[in-house]
Amino acid sequence: MAVERTLSIVKPDAVAKGATGAILSLIQEAGLEIIALKMIQLTEQQARGFYAVHKERPFYGDLVKFMTSGPVVVSALQGDNAIARYRKLMGATNPAEADDGTIRKAFATDIEKNAVHGSDAPETARIEISYFFNSGEIQAPVEAL
Ligand code: CMP
Repeated sequence: MAVERTLSIVKPDAVAKGATGAILSLIQEAGLEIIALKMIQLTEQQARGFYAVHKERPFYGDLVKFMTSGPVVVSALQGDNAIARYRKLMGATNPAEADDGTIRKAFATDIEKNAVHGSDAPETARIEISYFFNSGEIQAPVEAL
């Protein structure tokens, strides 16, 4: 099984409700290694760029507003099959459909304020991790990734 990296964002709703520590604990308990971590306030330009793939969607403007409404905690996670494992731990995008035991079931409010983000594929993970972290901010670098 391939060692992968994925980008996690604890979104403003979850940071504001004090759930950052609990979410990071769930990530670690699931066996995913945190190899980079920081709390930042996204600028409008950063949020627009990060979600550019959704720019034609009706929810884009609200999503950018929400993602800039308070600090977020971004991290890079590493482990075997990390992308799919983190997506399983997050649960469905819409928390109404999220399974018990998932982060979104426990902490999300609705489909927009859904507590966390995780990359959806290896190429997006590479782009998303480099969007927030330079190589000096990432521990345990694996050159092949
Ligand atoms: P995320 O995994 O960060 O990727 C895109 C985000 O857009 C998603 O989580 C939600 O926060 C948001 N999103 C996706 N679909 C909708 C929707 N139908 N209405 C509002 N927000 C959405």
